[in-house]
Amino acid sequence: MDFKLSEEHLMIQQAARDFAQTELLPGVIERDEKQEFPAEQVKKMGELGFMGMMVSPEYGGSGMDTVSYVLVMEELSKIDASASVIVSVNNSLVCWGLETFGTEEQKQKYLPRLASGEIIGAFCLSEPEAGSDATSQKTTAIDKGDHYLLNGTKNWITNGGSADVYLVIAQTYPEKGHKGINALIVEKGMDGFEIGPKEQKMGIRGSDTHSLMFTDVKVPKENRIGEDGFGFKFAMKTLSGGRIGIAAQALGIASGAYEMSKKYSKERKAFGKEIYKHQAIAFKLADMHTKIEAARHLVMKAAWDKDNGGNYDLSSAMAKLYASEVAMETAVEAVQVHGGNGYVKEYHVERLMRDAKITQIYEGTSEIQKIVISRSILQD
Ligand code: CAA
Repeated sequence: MDFKLSEEHLMIQQAARDFAQTELLPGVIERDEKQEFPAEQVKKMGELGFMGMMVSPEYGGSGMDTVSYVLVMEELSKIDASASVIVSVNNSLVCWGLETFGTEEQKQKYLPRLASGEIIGAFCLSEPEAGSDATSQKTTAIDKGDHYLLNGTKNWITNGGSADVYLVIAQTYPEKGHKGINALIVEKGMDGFEIGPKEQKMGIRGSDTHSLMFTDVKVPKENRIGEDGFGFKFAMKTLSGGRIGIAAQALGIASGAYEMSKKYSKERKAFGKEIYKHQAIAFKLADMHTKIEAARHLVMKAAWDKDNGGNYDLSSAMAKLYASEVAMETAVEAVQVHGGNGYVKEYHVERLMRDAKITQIYEGTSEIQKIVISRSILQD
């Protein structure tokens, strides 16, 4: 067993680290305060190949593996989790979903522009009454021969206002339950498609979260992804990979909070010495480091499973569950290590603490991950 990263992995990790320091760090506090979408930074991430990391070069992507993606997600998330969720949704949910299940025409039409960051995508599953209970879709896509007539509302959609391409999950045959659900590609500007107001959020405030309204939107039949009725499985399979991205985001938030705490503890003095020399602080750092390493192993294992053709439903759920708990715990402890300074924006850890919370909620709450894990381990 080899725990060492390859030269290629180390290079991509360094590229993401440099980008986060030079392009994300300046302005991250202001973007958080103003809820400002990092449009310029997204463009640059597209140029670096971060927006379509696992898309094959044939469709304009970087053709990298999931381990590389996890490394990039961690580095970006140490500094700016708002930017990293944009990357995560575009890569794992939109590009991967389209490349894996889309038709050749759909791939040619959307992937090169999504992978280059020219346009971005959104994944639209959640509804006012279908968050965790994703089979209870109320949005309908009625079959009208050459098109579907789409009606309904989607909630809490990441990239909701800024995307150009939306993968929308909707019910076509209510009597068939989850087997009657379809996934459709909807483009911004289609008649009857409206974007609701931006959500005012606790964290990841630079990312753009909206509700979406569809009123008699005519979606051409060729925009359906996969076979008729494949939409729910499409969503579940895509989310399994998405959870690796969010687990890596959580890992990055935890690592960022830890690194800042370690640095601060060597600079800040109390009772006549640097605070890391007090066991109360040293033990906190020891706990943080140990849990982050454990989370990293779970996240890397899930990425490895995906890269090696294994089933990663279980490993991605475990990685997301544990890494998001570690992100929350570590960020709270980081604020404590920073004392009064931890409570003010300038020191960044209060933002990481607010950002950490969402990793326990989106792409399936911690409770959903436990459902996936327990079903998987108890099915035999
Ligand atoms: N791969 C393939 N098929 C799967 C699957 C997977 N990973 N998981 C479930 N399925 C299939 C099942 O096999 C079953 O099919 P059959 O009847 O043919 O056997 C079907 O899907 C229904 O599965 P369940 O009976 O398990 O469905 P359930 O109602 O019990 O729900 C659940 C399962 C895991 C709770 C699911 O509803 C779920 O994951 N909910 C959470 C949804 C979620 O993550 N939402 C996040 C929104 S997206 C987001 O946050 C993006 C963003 O903007 C950042």
